[in-house]
Amino acid sequence: MIEQITVPDGHDRNGAPVAVARLDLQMGDVVSLVDHTSAGKTTLINDSGLGCNQDSPGYADIHFESPGSTMRQSRRLTDFAYQEDLGIYMPEEDGNGAGLERFAYSDGDEAEDYVLGAIREASDVSDNSPELSRYARDWASYYHLAPGRANAIRVLDLPRDISVLELGSGCGAISRYLGENHRELHCVEGSPRRAVITRERCRDLDNVKVYCADFRKLELDPSYDLVLLNGVLEYAPVFFRSGDPDEATAALLRFATSALKKDGVLLIGIENKIGLKYWCGASEDHTGRLFDGIQGYPTSGSARTYTRRELTRILEAAGLSVCTFYSCFPDYKFATSILAGSDPGSDFNIHNWIEYPAECLGLSREYLIHEGLAAKVLYDAGLIHEFANSFLVVAAAETPKAFERAMHPDWLASKVSVANRDRVAHCMTRFYPQTATVEKRCIEYVSGAVRDGLPMGHAPGTERWHPGQLLSYEVARAVMSKHFRETVAALLAEYHAELLRRFGVGTADDEGFPLVRGECFDFIMGNIIRTPGGLEGIDEEWASDRTLTADYLLFRSLCHDVIGRNKPWLGQTIHDVDEFSITTIRTIYPSYSRRRHERNRSLEEMLMAEIRGELGGTAWNSSHSGTAAWLKRAIKAAARQVPADIRAKIVRGSGALHSKVASLFAG
Ligand SMILES: C[S@@+](CC[C@H](N)C(=O)[O-])C[C@H]1O[C@@H](n2cnc3c(N)ncnc32)[C@H](O)[C@@H]1O
Repeated sequence: MIEQITVPDGHDRNGAPVAVARLDLQMGDVVSLVDHTSAGKTTLINDSGLGCNQDSPGYADIHFESPGSTMRQSRRLTDFAYQEDLGIYMPEEDGNGAGLERFAYSDGDEAEDYVLGAIREASDVSDNSPELSRYARDWASYYHLAPGRANAIRVLDLPRDISVLELGSGCGAISRYLGENHRELHCVEGSPRRAVITRERCRDLDNVKVYCADFRKLELDPSYDLVLLNGVLEYAPVFFRSGDPDEATAALLRFATSALKKDGVLLIGIENKIGLKYWCGASEDHTGRLFDGIQGYPTSGSARTYTRRELTRILEAAGLSVCTFYSCFPDYKFATSILAGSDPGSDFNIHNWIEYPAECLGLSREYLIHEGLAAKVLYDAGLIHEFANSFLVVAAAETPKAFERAMHPDWLASKVSVANRDRVAHCMTRFYPQTATVEKRCIEYVSGAVRDGLPMGHAPGTERWHPGQLLSYEVARAVMSKHFRETVAALLAEYHAELLRRFGVGTADDEGFPLVRGECFDFIMGNIIRTPGGLEGIDEEWASDRTLTADYLLFRSLCHDVIGRNKPWLGQTIHDVDEFSITTIRTIYPSYSRRRHERNRSLEEMLMAEIRGELGGTAWNSSHSGTAAWLKRAIKAAARQVPADIRAKIVRGSGALHSKVASLFAG
């Protein structure tokens, strides 16, 4: 319930206070409501159903302003003037910000000032900066500062030498990634404060320009290879006012498309109105209401998302008839699993790539259906892409040659791992069906070798793809079944036998627990597939340089794959998870004690801290400098394609004078 509306005094361009005399809220206004957690909701005041209909006096105030209808006041980006003090471009006549102050998208003053302060204070503002992520203190700051915001875009293999227009850049999280990786980036953001934050996030990137403008007052030139709407299209019904939300969405799409070169592409990141997580009990991301999208948004005035089919039709109507959909889980904002959205027609068990439950940061959620089990049923029914939690869509009039890889990927599933790990171990894993291989590689400049000498070794590589279901799927079935304890104990016993067979060293520690080789660190139930030929380990990435004990691996499996993934559903049966873990491990090792359990927990915490880079992880040297940075990274990527022996010759032959060349070809 709103008890108070606070309207802070404004200030003019020179910082002098300007008192607010009156606050008028009218139908058709856009307001941001911010709760005590700093979670903001931006909405349009148009609850016309309450007191009026289209015939009521005043209804005409809710009017539609399409770019066409506002042409007379529209401006081009080339007419904008650079504001030295702010670092951004503004329309000449809006120099004092007067015309912009009513643009109301906001997480709240306190939250946005905090984000600006954090970015100003941090010395490393690069994409996935660990330093910045340490400033995240709530959902709003996490959203703008945490690593992983560009995961979904990263997997697309977009060409680097392109000019990009980002519409609605927010606080610059994606802008930073685009600026580091592409030739030229223009950001347009309606909120002056957010535009300043975008600039600050990209402060050392001289290939990035930030414009503060309301899209409705803008006319774009068709000069971009790529236009991005990331988390923006759904706000069309709010910001492109119209009685008809679908018409508003179409208008925003026409506007975005007008900026494309003939063979440019539009890229859209957006939630799926009927995403799996919503059926399972996650609140709608924009309205916070349960089942709101699934029920077709019965309450108007909010942002609005679409199904895959609806989005395809809307895009086709905007002249973009070639659409490539990617399915993102848990969503497009912090995507960890990105599935190429076409059904290959074979049994590749793509649902194995989806992690669950979907975390809904900043929103409450319920756990009505087991997401992991439902994902498999949807996959088997050929419907998993229809029910993706979010989409990333690449749309064009025809497939442009430069975007061939982004529109016709040769991989089926990608996983991006950047959260909670040392930066040099940020990784991308991809499944290539044609060669039946899964390739894992570091995404940030350096190879795993940099971690040499640290206790947790990191060795990403290429492995064979295995058909079958993960053991954790059998665990999930057990969780929802009657004889849960017995089934889990039986699965654990089978796992334990395989663990000893593969990794046992034949001796035990002084308490009699068998020792296993440290490279089994990742051999836990969530990383094991039951294939027709037996159990196969996958995703082996981390290895400990010390010998481990079998009960520790049982502890890990229970902690991550039995309890961690299933906690919300398990909670209905098990009230003390430690007691449950100890009892289950005792079915294999009767002497397993609480003390031993605590010891395993401490070891797990320590090794995870090592993985996060907290115990002497690799120092990170951020050296991005605008255009030079994207060019350098493009050359490095190309250099990686050169055979190793030729690379070595180039490095040797380049001599001290050309150390920069050597560094590009080394490693
Ligand atoms: C949900 S945020 C997404 C921000 C950013 N793309 C990201 O992913 O972090 C939507 C942004 O679009 C901006 N926006 C929405 N409609 C706009 C309009 N008509 N003109 C200018 N900016 C707009 C808002 O100010 C807001 O910063």
